[in-house]
Amino acid sequence: MQPIGPLMHEHRLIERLIVLMEAEAGRIEAGASPDSRLIDEAVDFFRYYADRCHHGKEEEILFAALAQKPLSDEERRILGELVAEHVRGRALVLAIHDANGRAVPGDPSRGAPLVRLMRELSGFYRTHIEKEDKRFFHPVMRHFAKDEMEAMLLAFDAVETRVFREKYAAVAESREGAASR
Ligand SMILES: [Fe+2]
Ligand SMILES: [Fe+2]
Repeated sequence: MQPIGPLMHEHRLIERLIVLMEAEAGRIEAGASPDSRLIDEAVDFFRYYADRCHHGKEEEILFAALAQKPLSDEERRILGELVAEHVRGRALVLAIHDANGRAVPGDPSRGAPLVRLMRELSGFYRTHIEKEDKRFFHPVMRHFAKDEMEAMLLAFDAVETRVFREKYAAVAESREGAASR
């Protein structure tokens, strides 16, 4: 299997969360109070699954390996764009987290920034994923031999295990902090 197989598979799950965010943005625009819990869960997903785990695999493994290869000018340009886009995605998720904390149930004016940010994140991910799936992942696979691809797949598993542990350590720390207050 090529390492882009699991990455593209992960894109499909990210798209499902994007659809849920778009639906939530539409609900708020129609006058409903923001569903803070749903937005919190989405923030958690985008932080740990989409960023730490998925972007972690891309940046630490695939992109790092590609940086050592004789990429075409176009490939190197897109690689730089993808890394910069990850930074923007991270900032947007943080902004959604902050705006969710400020949203007041029953006050539609406090939902407007959330709607704007959620729509921005949705547009961002759709464009980013399309760029990776349709313009980058397939052509760059020509730079790798079969054994390099297998090593990358194993390294992906290590990222996933690490992020899983980090996530639940963070849950413990946050609960311990709350208990000691
Ligand atoms: Fe990416
Ligand atoms: Fe991706």
